[in-house]
Amino acid sequence: FDRGSLSGKRVFITAGPTREALDPVRYISNHSSGKMGYALAEAAVDAGAKVTLISGPVNLPAPQRCERIMVESAEQMLAASLEHIDECDIFIASAAVADFRPVAVAEHKLKKGTEEIMELRLVKNPDIVASVAARQNKPFTVGFAAETRDVVHYAQDKLSRKNLDLIIANDVSRSDIGFNSDDNAVTVVSHDDVQQLPLSSKRQLASKLIEIIAAHQEN
Ligand code: PMT
Repeated sequence: FDRGSLSGKRVFITAGPTREALDPVRYISNHSSGKMGYALAEAAVDAGAKVTLISGPVNLPAPQRCERIMVESAEQMLAASLEHIDECDIFIASAAVADFRPVAVAEHKLKKGTEEIMELRLVKNPDIVASVAARQNKPFTVGFAAETRDVVHYAQDKLSRKNLDLIIANDVSRSDIGFNSDDNAVTVVSHDDVQQLPLSSKRQLASKLIEIIAAHQEN
């Protein structure tokens, strides 16, 4: 019987948003639902992989036969991603990681005060997928690119700047695909190829993407 294209492979997948705390009750985040990353985890399990899903806060149940680690912030997602990275064959970064976090987390709930304008100071978060790809013994590393224009151009830039092996670009200016929708349409960009995958459910797309990733990482 078919043992699956990722039989015996260890696959780590980041999914969902991160939350960056401002104070005990407030945070900065985004509209990622985790659907894309969870669909990839299911497809990778179906392809025979041993999957670790590193997930930000989402409303989805853990996929079956998959280890799930729940995190909140980008720093926690980085720590969870690196903890067993030496065992990882393929790293897929589908999470929408907050690029910045508040410089300090207030110990108590911030008070309104009398000012009409409030300013926040933010500091850049670590880049998780770039940290993985910078390792000497790096896994086959796949990123996503959330773009609103010049999708392929910016994806190619991220592919080389972050030292990735493959990048999956989606146009997040459309409301029928990308963040929080059930469907997606993507462009898979490698160092020598650009492949369009037309609109379909995230589940169907995930199976196709896992096939493509499996084929690439064999070479
Ligand atoms: O969760 P869903 O609702 O299903 O939506 C899916 C999605 C739109 C979130 C997903 O398909 C997607 O595009 N994920 C990447 C979102 C993103 O943050 O893209 P980016 O272009 O800002 O980042 C590029 C890559 O670097 C991504 O692989 C991202 O995970 C990674 N990154 C970014 C910043 C950071 N600090 N660490 C990272 O690892």
